[in-house]
Amino acid sequence: MHLPATSPRLLAANLVNAVLLDGYSLTASLANLRAASTDLSTVDGRSASQNLAAAQNLAYGVFREAGRLRFFLAQLTERPISPVELNGHLLVGLHELDAGLSPAYAAVNETVDIAARRYPRARAFVNAVMRNFQRRRTELDLAARKHPEARWNFPPWWLERLQDEYPANWENIVNALNTHPPMTLRINPRQTTLNDYRAQLDASGHPHRLAGATALILETPVPVAELPGFAEGWVSVQDFGAQMAAPLLDATSSMRVLDACAAPGGKTSHLLEIANLDLVALDSDANRLVRVQENLDRLGLAKQPDASIRLLANDAGKPSLWWDEKPFDRILLDAPCTASGVVRRHPDGKWLKRAEDMQHLAREQSRLLEALWPLLRPGGKMLYATCSLFKAENSEQIAAFLARHTDACVEPIEIAGAVSGQLGAQIIPGLNTDGFFYARLLKT
Ligand SMILES: C[S@@+](CC[C@H](N)C(=O)[O-])C[C@H]1O[C@@H](n2cnc3c(N)ncnc32)[C@H](O)[C@@H]1O
Repeated sequence: MHLPATSPRLLAANLVNAVLLDGYSLTASLANLRAASTDLSTVDGRSASQNLAAAQNLAYGVFREAGRLRFFLAQLTERPISPVELNGHLLVGLHELDAGLSPAYAAVNETVDIAARRYPRARAFVNAVMRNFQRRRTELDLAARKHPEARWNFPPWWLERLQDEYPANWENIVNALNTHPPMTLRINPRQTTLNDYRAQLDASGHPHRLAGATALILETPVPVAELPGFAEGWVSVQDFGAQMAAPLLDATSSMRVLDACAAPGGKTSHLLEIANLDLVALDSDANRLVRVQENLDRLGLAKQPDASIRLLANDAGKPSLWWDEKPFDRILLDAPCTASGVVRRHPDGKWLKRAEDMQHLAREQSRLLEALWPLLRPGGKMLYATCSLFKAENSEQIAAFLARHTDACVEPIEIAGAVSGQLGAQIIPGLNTDGFFYARLLKT
């Protein structure tokens, strides 16, 4: 973070710069801001958390539209912007004007004032960019429609890859990835039932629809603290596509199960809601593993009498460091990936990831698959999962794995609306679900 800040516009500019200039994820940048919450005290009557929520909304908006906004900025400026931190201020200001979030005079004046408070000599420049945008808006809007990155709000390499891999429906996919994601709940059957919880939602004024056996989609997202019984563990927030992982693993009570990339524990907790397992939840990130424990505690799953749960912070690719040599009946490998299927939840990811990152991640996925396969007993099953749409991380990964292992075969998976084949099932992002890939490997 650059400076302590008080106004949402200034905070949002900091967040945008932290991502685009410093390479932090928006989640990490928000966590940094929250950690510095004493700096967020307000100057205009809003609480620190209200300021932060408003800044978060602005920053998310900028990243959803960053292709378009950066195109505008490039058209409105003749040379590289200096100091570079003005980029954040201008992108937030242009987003406000473009999306009509506040009266135009307020967006222009406050963008200029806030930027000039930090960079007094930039006042005239910022003012000129904002006012030129107002003047040239129609012309720029038309030009943006002819520029792929501005039109679709995706970097060229993503667009090219999606066009190449999904020639018939890439536009639908891109449109789905540009929408606001639904807020989907997963009922905890150990605490409540679907019908009882729906009645609770109705009584507390939260319109919703049914998406799957345990999945409810809220008409309007709300902070989790407003959900009935959230603190008591009646529900979790989890995308419908992600909710398919635990049932697909096909684990039944008393099985020995490895959740190899477990944090923050969305799928770990779902597995334990379904069956009493002897479960090892592993993650290389000890800090994220704390969230697994918090989720298990909240959901009342941490101390079930008929289950055993161990959380381990270690590298799934190096079993000699943590494995007790007892084979597993089931392994869930929810591998690190580009997260290309969930960018509507993390729109900063589009602008942070590079094409080379995908090659690196594909190598890591293959390392994890190789390291974990020997830990599965014959007759056991491994569910390989990603939240990606790219074949290099999904079907191509599985094809290469099958070519290396004659004792592996893919069990068919039927998921409504998914593209299913001999190498797994690709869930296409849409109204009710993000994009996921699942392949269930059986050890013969
Ligand atoms: C897609 S997320 C997992 C999400 C989780 N399964 C859930 O449903 O909440 C991938 C996780 O893999 C972890 N990870 C990355 N490399 C790893 C490795 N070599 N060994 C173990 N965990 C790893 C990351 O820290 C991250 O928490």
